[in-house]
Amino acid sequence: MGEVAADGERKESLVFAINGERFELSESDIDPSITLLEFLRSRTPFKSVKLGCGEGGCGACIVLLSKYDPVLDQVKDSTVSSCLTLVCSLNGCSITTAEGVGNSKDGFHPIQERFVGFHASQCGFCTPGMCVSVFSALVNAEKSNRSEPRPGFSKLTVTEAEKAIAGNLCRCTGYRPIADACKSFAADVDMEDLGYNSFWKKGESHEEKMSRLPAYNRNSSNLKFPEFLKKEIKAGANLASKGYHWYSPSSIEKLQSILQKNEADDGTSTKIVVGNTGAGYYKELEQYDNYIDLKHIPELSIIVKDQTGIEIGAAVTISKAIEVLKQESVGDFPLESKTVFKKIADHMEKIASGFVRNSGSVGGNLMMAQRKQFPSDIATILLPVDAIVNIMIGQKLEKLTLEEFLGRPPLDSRAILLSIKIPSWELTKDISSETDTKFLFETYRAASRPLGNALPYLNAAFLAEVSFCRNSTGATLNTCRLSFGAYASKHPIRASNVEEFLIGKVLSVGLLYEAIKLLETTVIPKDGISHSAYKSSLAVGFLFEFLSPLVDTPDQISGGLCNGDNSSMLRDYNSKIEDNNDKLNGTKFPTLLSSSKQNIQSGNDYPPVGQPVTKVGAAIQASGEAVFVDDIPAPGNCLYGAFVYSTEPLARVKSITFTSRSPPVGFNALISVKDIPGKNLGCTSIFGEEPLYADEFAQFAGDRIAFVVADTQKHADLAANLAVIDYDKDNLNPPILSVEEAVKRGSFFEVPPFLSPKQVGDFSKGMAEADRQILSAEIKLGSQYYFYMETQTALAMPDEDNSMVVYTSTQCPQIAHETIAQCLGLPANNIRVITRRLGGGFGGKSLRAVTAATACAVAAYKLQRPVRMYVNRKTDMIMAGGRHPMKITYSVGFKESGKITALKLDILIDAGVFPDVSIILPGAIVGSLKKYDWGALNFDLKLCKTNRPSRSAMRAPGEVQASFIAEAIIEHVASTLSVEVDTVRSINLHTYNSLGFFYKSAAGEPLEYTLPAIWDQLATSSSFHQRTEMIQEFNRSNKWRKRGISRVPVMQEMSVRPTPAKVSILSDGSIVVEVGGVDMGQGLWTKVKQVAAYGLGLIKPGGTEELLEKVRVIQSDTLSLIQGGFTGGSTTSESSCEAVRLCCNVLLERLTSLKEKSMEQTGTLEWETLILQAYQISVNLSANSLFIPDSTSMQYLNYGAAVEVNLLTGETTILRSDIIYDCGQSLNPAVDLGQIEGAYVQGIGFFMFEEYPTNSNGLVTANGTWSYKIPTLDTIPKQFNVEILNSGHHQKRVLSSKASGEPPLTLAVSVHCATRAAIVEARRQLGSWNGVDDPNSTAFQLEVPAVMPVVKERCGLDSVEKFLQWTMGTK
Ligand SMILES: Cc1cc2nc3c(=O)[nH]c(=O)nc-3n(C[C@H](O)[C@H](O)[C@H](O)COP(=O)(O)OP(=O)(O)OC[C@H]3O[C@@H](n4cnc5c(N)ncnc54)[C@H](O)[C@@H]3O)c2cc1C
Ligand code: FES
Ligand code: FES
Repeated sequence: MGEVAADGERKESLVFAINGERFELSESDIDPSITLLEFLRSRTPFKSVKLGCGEGGCGACIVLLSKYDPVLDQVKDSTVSSCLTLVCSLNGCSITTAEGVGNSKDGFHPIQERFVGFHASQCGFCTPGMCVSVFSALVNAEKSNRSEPRPGFSKLTVTEAEKAIAGNLCRCTGYRPIADACKSFAADVDMEDLGYNSFWKKGESHEEKMSRLPAYNRNSSNLKFPEFLKKEIKAGANLASKGYHWYSPSSIEKLQSILQKNEADDGTSTKIVVGNTGAGYYKELEQYDNYIDLKHIPELSIIVKDQTGIEIGAAVTISKAIEVLKQESVGDFPLESKTVFKKIADHMEKIASGFVRNSGSVGGNLMMAQRKQFPSDIATILLPVDAIVNIMIGQKLEKLTLEEFLGRPPLDSRAILLSIKIPSWELTKDISSETDTKFLFETYRAASRPLGNALPYLNAAFLAEVSFCRNSTGATLNTCRLSFGAYASKHPIRASNVEEFLIGKVLSVGLLYEAIKLLETTVIPKDGISHSAYKSSLAVGFLFEFLSPLVDTPDQISGGLCNGDNSSMLRDYNSKIEDNNDKLNGTKFPTLLSSSKQNIQSGNDYPPVGQPVTKVGAAIQASGEAVFVDDIPAPGNCLYGAFVYSTEPLARVKSITFTSRSPPVGFNALISVKDIPGKNLGCTSIFGEEPLYADEFAQFAGDRIAFVVADTQKHADLAANLAVIDYDKDNLNPPILSVEEAVKRGSFFEVPPFLSPKQVGDFSKGMAEADRQILSAEIKLGSQYYFYMETQTALAMPDEDNSMVVYTSTQCPQIAHETIAQCLGLPANNIRVITRRLGGGFGGKSLRAVTAATACAVAAYKLQRPVRMYVNRKTDMIMAGGRHPMKITYSVGFKESGKITALKLDILIDAGVFPDVSIILPGAIVGSLKKYDWGALNFDLKLCKTNRPSRSAMRAPGEVQASFIAEAIIEHVASTLSVEVDTVRSINLHTYNSLGFFYKSAAGEPLEYTLPAIWDQLATSSSFHQRTEMIQEFNRSNKWRKRGISRVPVMQEMSVRPTPAKVSILSDGSIVVEVGGVDMGQGLWTKVKQVAAYGLGLIKPGGTEELLEKVRVIQSDTLSLIQGGFTGGSTTSESSCEAVRLCCNVLLERLTSLKEKSMEQTGTLEWETLILQAYQISVNLSANSLFIPDSTSMQYLNYGAAVEVNLLTGETTILRSDIIYDCGQSLNPAVDLGQIEGAYVQGIGFFMFEEYPTNSNGLVTANGTWSYKIPTLDTIPKQFNVEILNSGHHQKRVLSSKASGEPPLTLAVSVHCATRAAIVEARRQLGSWNGVDDPNSTAFQLEVPAVMPVVKERCGLDSVEKFLQWTMGTK
């Protein structure tokens, strides 16, 4: 402190608080580019902030940021993403992380306790961020001046509670339980709406329920702004260290002088920052020399209101701007202005998510649009209201219209945007005239998530003044401003030609048609972008939506909304346009989950098995204290690694250099194939091997070429990014990038006979019996990325005597162990692999994770230092491989009744370059396909070896594709016959006889075939037939929205694998359990714990209830428990449970004589005493077992079904899903419910949202949260009902249970089918407008995923034009 900087400001230290603790950073500590996330994770014990994306798109890293305003003596609290917030900007701020909200030492917060009780945390990686979001919402609601809520509740509303987490991603739960935990605090919640939990039982009264919830006391918030901070620095600090500067000028003059100085100093780079959220999009990798924080300049933070409008300082956050505009929309401004303010505020609420809007500024957004063509919403919506911007270039101040500002060449990096003014609008009314005038302003955006957190495909804003002549029909546009943006244009544009064309003319259908044709020539996305025609069609749709209620053809245009009477037309415009919006956009529906029901039948034969015991470790997951691999404190001397990957699909690797001449900052080593001491092995399994690093050739885009090691993860990532690979493609065959090419070149993996599925029946005979045939129809399916919230990670530590300990987040510790030993050329007993928990796996952390662990081990071995890696999201997405894409050709024969008699499939599966576990795919596909009775089933499945990343098993591998293929064929048959699809499904369900024919012994006993009963039950519980009729009626009376409904069955063959366990009883009676299975959020440990308590509880009639609390399941350690195998296929929980039960049996037997003696002597049995006595006489209290399933119990079936849907123009809203799922006797219904809902929502992602494209080299191009859209709270079913059926005793299964982890995922095909049904209606209507009754309108393939552009395309990109033409023709 104390040194005077060149600009005359004193250099200061940085002071802030984290969870009430004071942090002071002096000059030498400061790196201005360091984010709060990096700081928290590397320099504090607070590891609850997780790195999920590093780009503001997931919410795993959010913290509560509190700022004190000494003038108002007020504290402002808001969430921000710590991955984008720069530490230097935090002077005087107080940060609260999830540990600060509550923790195991000081007590958990009721938010965390309710997350536990509502079973809202599975893997727990998203949970701290979720809890901070809710905490912030609670804190802010309590500050409001709303009336006092009921005792025990907060001032929060249900909608606010849900919106609070709308920007947070969770890949495990499906969101419903999280929403329930949040809503439980809301003043207006109906307790009946809160879902399944461990607090109360069904049927308890409202008061009883309330009393069981962990108490929430409004007056005892943990959040106190630290007094010491109030007294310390309140302004921004000017900081300098090692040649880097952080400036926080407090006036324009000071800013000018800093800019001037920096301009003079050649060679230094400067970055202007406000919220730094732009870094989330542009991912700048360079470190600047100077950072200038604009937040402390009063002129940039102003909000000035006068009769001419509202001026907003450029550094004002989007959240603040929304707040101000909302206030003014009910203030003193003219009505027209209020409309403008309100609509702009409403639109802005869909920008990013709350935690980005809380720090991202309005000016930052506009500068990104101006300089870098960012697809801004703000620029588009401010364009038609004639916004003015004030800018400063050097000493010069300029006032420009927004249009001029955007139209200028990109401004110099030192130009400063000072403020934006939204002018006041008022209609000039001429009372004497013969016309009534009306002011109209609307904004639009089409994006994959209704509540934001998704960039729009296109946005628009329209302003118009319309006059309605009192004596005649027709509306005339006096003023018309139409802006369109975000469609891959340089910047938003005004469609001036269309405006000119419309102004002064009486609106008619013909005029609208002409205007739309003109618009089509105006809104043209630049060449080469995806969904280009879709974007243009959106522009047309929005203009139509805006103007159609004004057009005088009431019945046809707006479905009877306008009645031709101008005065009422004028009066009702707003309600009409709102209604029209609803019809087009579906905004009538609640944007969030509106209700859910869970009907659970659980058994109580093996207590506490079957009870909804809460998840092991859920509380520490919610507080962020649960330790994931990357949370393990870095050992001294630790290095960090990052993969260098190929961008070529097939090339010789000549050399690797770095772009910079000097080695990258922090660089330590470059490890490649030549550094491997043993075998070049990245992973190995019974199915085959994969090299760790490319040897001579890179074999796919994304192939591991080398591993950069540096002093920090950031430096390792930067260095990997600077790596330049010199390729040579001379004399090489072209790569195989498609399955067709693989076939041509005979490039396949062999499927061993024992894994090859068997044909069923005689195909030729079946075809001969058919009345009709479909021959050689084609379907294509793409890939899906796991999107586990925690990316691949490992930590390898060399130990004494040539041994290595590796912590890794993997589903297969045993395979990691074996691979590392071979790769290092060491005996297996030198290696120890430890896995405690995974931040999600979904199959992506089976063999794929092994390669990450092995890479760290090789580097650690070579450098003899600990080496860790946390793969960044982009690299993870590029290397992951994901689900298997495939091409399917089918021929099917069927009767006129819809009964299918024969099916033949040729399936080409893209397995990628290495075998991984692809060999299981054919069996999995056929197992699932057999859910229908196809008569005869003949297939030829080929596993194609291509130059693409190896595909791995992603949750329900092959099964989800098979479920889709089956349904697509059923749909095809139905449309060919013009029969209801549901009828064709019902006709082709198995009878018990056909089930036996298809599944042989796995079919089980007749009573176990529960599908027909579930099928009927679902029809009743979901009112399927009534709703089908209602939907037909709805579709008749709605032009621009269509609905569909569908129910599908699922059956899945499951196999149980051998699994080990060890149960040990310690001298105080506590119990330690080790199992082969890994807990990745699926609740394996919880079920294991229950079974251990049940198994040992049998020592006493009636069991010993308290045993549950005595059981601790510990991490897998491959030297402590061998033969752990891998966790996957949904059955590891139950096989681990069975192995534990076997151990318990052994222990019980060893304790029997002691127990009997005790009972004889005292008549009682105290667990602790018994164990103490056993210790005294040296009974062996540790038992090992390896559960080996007998062959007859290897397979079984699961059944389920679902229903739902609604379709809009491109956007699909899932109105309702009903699932009935046969779980056998659930081991833990809460866990199984979580698995069912989570899997179903992941399935929705596959079928509806998740595009995983590649470039022509096969390099993945969707590489983060900006382009890869998993479902969010606003895209799950609005009504989500799940029933878990207890189908009684199943002798051959572990405690009569059935798996739940994967089969429900395949049920999400119902959403796709229902969407298709809705599109069929849209196409029929389009056909009628075209004047053709095209029977083929129902025969089409709907691609997977059915994203908005796909749906719109299938409904007709030109539907508006066609409709207008038809209207003109019929007039
Ligand atoms: C996950 C996510 C989702 C998003 N979604 C949307 C969306 O749907 N629609 C949308 O419109 N936007 C969206 N955004 C963009 C967001 O609105 C901007 O990132 C934010 O407004 C930028 O403000 P900032 O203060 O953080 O700017 P910074 O990141 O601090 O700065 C951004 C750029 O502008 C420059 N700059 C900032 N202020 C000034 C100034 N006053 N004068 C000169 N230069 C300046 C900086 O030098 C930098 O180059 C999203 C952002 C994120 C992270
Ligand atoms: S890690 Fe910060 S939002 Fe995803
Ligand atoms: S619990 Fe949400 S990501 Fe796993």
